[in-house]
Amino acid sequence: MFKIMYKKELSPGIFHMDIEAPRVAKKAKAGQFIVLRVDEKGERIPLTIADFDVEKGTITLIFQVLGASTMQLSALNEGDSIVDFAGPLGQPSEIDGNMGTVVCIGGGIGVAPVYPIARAMHEAGNKVISIMGAKTKDILIFEDKMRAISDEVIIATDDGSYGVKGFVTTALQQLVDRGEKIDQVTAIGPGIMMKSVCDATRPLGIKTIVSLNPVMVDGTGMCGGCRVQVGDEMKFACVDGPEFDGHLVDFNNLMSRGRMFREQEAKAKEHVCN
Ligand code: FES
Repeated sequence: MFKIMYKKELSPGIFHMDIEAPRVAKKAKAGQFIVLRVDEKGERIPLTIADFDVEKGTITLIFQVLGASTMQLSALNEGDSIVDFAGPLGQPSEIDGNMGTVVCIGGGIGVAPVYPIARAMHEAGNKVISIMGAKTKDILIFEDKMRAISDEVIIATDDGSYGVKGFVTTALQQLVDRGEKIDQVTAIGPGIMMKSVCDATRPLGIKTIVSLNPVMVDGTGMCGGCRVQVGDEMKFACVDGPEFDGHLVDFNNLMSRGRMFREQEAKAKEHVCN
């Protein structure tokens, strides 16, 4: 069993949880994820590692209540336990000290998985410019953490309630317009956001890495549920990723596969609510 050591609702429906899992924390690296099951009858859900503390032996998860499992998870409190917690899974981010200027983009809850990657890039000695996007100011998360490890932070809100009015691509375009030399972009967020970022960077020839979060079951390369088309190849996000060259990802296919189980997800959520 894996104990919940800390829980906080960051904004409506978005939760921070620290889970006691010392062996996972010891091996975790930026870019990896875990698969958990809330209880014996629960489904397995992947969540990206938002932070890890080797000394405390904890893994930080940030999740939004979207379906039945995240709803069940959000109902647990500090001191409660979950039954399964497997990880770290997936390939760590490729990071070294010669990357130059890296723009780390997090959209919505995607800011959480971007954070350990941006921190590792910063610690390796690269210049990190972070772009954080949210619909409105009150659902922006991790601002202090991102400011602490970034050379510059640009915030974009859809309604203009904080920072630049517009999307993360609006802020990215401002960087390009001011002549910033960008060596790499790392973007994590909703599929449509990552697609838009890739559409913006492709003509500029800026290497762009995205982290994908498709439907996953086993998380170990056996079920095929997480397959994604990357260039001419079919890849499994759980073992080959979750990070890929965004310019090669077939986002239309990714997003349509993501919509395939909406009906079942809605029924499962209804079942849990009742
Ligand atoms: Fe089953 Fe990736 S989750 S193959």
